Amino acid sequence: MSDRTPSATPSTTDLTLEQRAGLGSGADFWTTKEAPGVPSVTMTDGPHGLRKQEGAGDHLGISGSVPATCFPPAACLGQSWDPDLVTRVGAAIADEAQAADVQVVLGPGINLKRSPLGGRNFEYYSEDPHLSGVLGSAWVNGLQSRGVGASLKHFALNNQEADRMRSSSDVDERPLHELYLRGFRRVVEDATPATVMCSYNAVNGVPVRHSRELLTDLLRTEWGFTGAVVSDWGAVGGRVDAVKAGLDLQMPYDGGAGDAEVVAAVNNGDLGEDAVTTAAQRVADLANRLHSSRETAASFDDAAVDAHHDLAREAAASSVVLLSNEEVDGRHLLPIAESGVTGSVAVIGAFADVPRYQGGGSSHVNPTRLTSPLEAIRETWAAPVTYAAGFTTDGSGVNPALLAEAVEDAANADVALVFLGLAAEQESEGFDRTDLALPAEQINLLRAVRAVQERVVVVLAHGGVLDLRQVRKYAGAVVDANLTGQAGGAALADVLSGRVNPSGKLTETIPMRLQDTPAYLDFPGEHGQVRYSEGLHVGYRWYDARELSVAFPFGHGLSYTTFAYDGIFAQPDDDGEGITVIVGVTNTGSRRGREVVQAYVAVPESAVQRVPQALGGFGSVTLDPGERAELEIHIDRRDLEYRDTRTGASVLEPGRYVVAVGASSRDLRGSTEVELEGEVVHVPLTLTSTLAEAMASPVVAQAIGDAMGAVTGGGESGGAGAGDALGVDLAAMMGSVPLERLVGFSSGAVTTDQLQQLLDAANEAH
Ligand code: BGC
Repeated sequence: MSDRTPSATPSTTDLTLEQRAGLGSGADFWTTKEAPGVPSVTMTDGPHGLRKQEGAGDHLGISGSVPATCFPPAACLGQSWDPDLVTRVGAAIADEAQAADVQVVLGPGINLKRSPLGGRNFEYYSEDPHLSGVLGSAWVNGLQSRGVGASLKHFALNNQEADRMRSSSDVDERPLHELYLRGFRRVVEDATPATVMCSYNAVNGVPVRHSRELLTDLLRTEWGFTGAVVSDWGAVGGRVDAVKAGLDLQMPYDGGAGDAEVVAAVNNGDLGEDAVTTAAQRVADLANRLHSSRETAASFDDAAVDAHHDLAREAAASSVVLLSNEEVDGRHLLPIAESGVTGSVAVIGAFADVPRYQGGGSSHVNPTRLTSPLEAIRETWAAPVTYAAGFTTDGSGVNPALLAEAVEDAANADVALVFLGLAAEQESEGFDRTDLALPAEQINLLRAVRAVQERVVVVLAHGGVLDLRQVRKYAGAVVDANLTGQAGGAALADVLSGRVNPSGKLTETIPMRLQDTPAYLDFPGEHGQVRYSEGLHVGYRWYDARELSVAFPFGHGLSYTTFAYDGIFAQPDDDGEGITVIVGVTNTGSRRGREVVQAYVAVPESAVQRVPQALGGFGSVTLDPGERAELEIHIDRRDLEYRDTRTGASVLEPGRYVVAVGASSRDLRGSTEVELEGEVVHVPLTLTSTLAEAMASPVVAQAIGDAMGAVTGGGESGGAGAGDALGVDLAAMMGSVPLERLVGFSSGAVTTDQLQQLLDAANEAH
């Protein structure tokens, strides 16, 4: 919204209490109420295209919506690791929103992928908070640059579909701040979304709609959010407590019950009128600001439909990940144009003809057009292209006739392109998956095809991660298409043929087995509670810490060319708050290509638990064969901090930071180190502080040493003589003793008053 001048918003204090309460809830399914000086706002889903319903409204994607460009959903688009591209997609969606007179698009969704089973993982970017935050910011910046407001969702810890309206996500303070909230903080701080959508679930027992800690203390006070907090659709029960917590707008219309509760609570003194006025003012400000940037003449004409389809194609082609690409007869299987294949191509698999290109539920877009991979491949290749479905997607198991036809085609062709994936019914908003498996009939088909054809390329369509052990065994090349949006067919033909050199990289680890995944033992919880027992170890943080083999690591993705890295250098920023990394990248192959370069940070001597490495920054460079460029990657303080649980502060620890740079989290090409000054956390000493903690204070160290001497008779701190006699390191053993216990251990030689005086002196010295 930054480039727009907001119109003056009248003060809502002139409105009646009823009018102000009314501004805090919807007029119907998708719009807010009008009031004197306050226009109505229309909101629609998002996030990978507009879902504007003109008939009956619903939040599950059931009723139809007007045609709109179906861009690749976040799970796919994120694989581009390209904030500029994501910004362009956001801007295009805003243009369609302007033409449809929509003021708020309900996105982006940036929840972390805690478990690969999460039913809405296709709507989210990554298992990593840095990547999710950067891409989410890019989308918001694009959308809002065209005068349309975003709704950052689902705030917060809505990481599963099971019991999503009730379940409490119970998480420790460090993962809460360092993983689950980190991306939200970045988007709020870097892209100022017009609204934030409060999720259905509870966090640590408190429904998010009633959490003042999340909706006000963090969001507004710590992060500086100034927009409106909107409920997820139907998330509000207990509107009065929600207003107290900081919820501004309840969606959708609830028949006026919530407004009446608010008015009654003000009248009986349970709710301060100020809270109602503040919420109403935020909705009024939002409405006026967005109305001042309406483009009433905007239209989504044929030229725009074409241009957005082309952008959807470019986005999909940039996001597809080439997982593997083996050689047959000395040539890589892909791209087909260079693989030595001159004869016919057997396209196999039902998803080639009827593509799976987006997920189900509230984000479901009615596409303006749809290209199937089969159509696009037929247009691309001069050589004969056969097609056999090979299987059905209705879950009815092996179909012997379809299988036989596909195997025959494969045997007669030069190469088999096998399109496998999950059917729409297998993953959607509203439920989680229970396994990572591809249907058995598809694996059966693949095995049979491989038995008659040496050149087998698999193309995968799915929103959530799959178990690829069998696919890797039978396919020489695997292209992970994810869910490509409406232009995915053409984009895949671009990548398979070699017209586009793939540069997408995984934003989520592909594990070997479900049993290896971080939340395996605690997903989706039970009886309305899910414990995030893996703590800080989500995604690659877990696989790295456990030293587990994975099928394909976070950040992995091949290219038709190769890149070499050199001269990795890092230095602290002038203000000591971040790190700047510089690395040389050379295209050592024979085609032009784009390389996504990733920088991971480790803090080996940290005083607190740390994960082995965490993504600190990334960048990309497009190079001609033989060309070299230097890439600068900035690592922000926010990605280096840990949350100190004693003080509640986000701390940049002093010490050594190791920065490793590479092509994936497990293909690191070099590393370097920097020292950061950081800041020392001062926790006031109390009588329950331990001896070891107190000994860090020079003011009391001597006195405590004397007290130890009195206890042990050794005279010296640590009482070496007594320790020797007992066969223990007395200093180490006594280190965990709370100071107040010294009274007893010294038989009263040290008093509580003396200790308190020492502590006061020590605390004052800081
Ligand atoms: C979903 C939101 C969506 C809303 C409106 C909810 O069920 O969780 O993501 O924006 O419905 O359709």
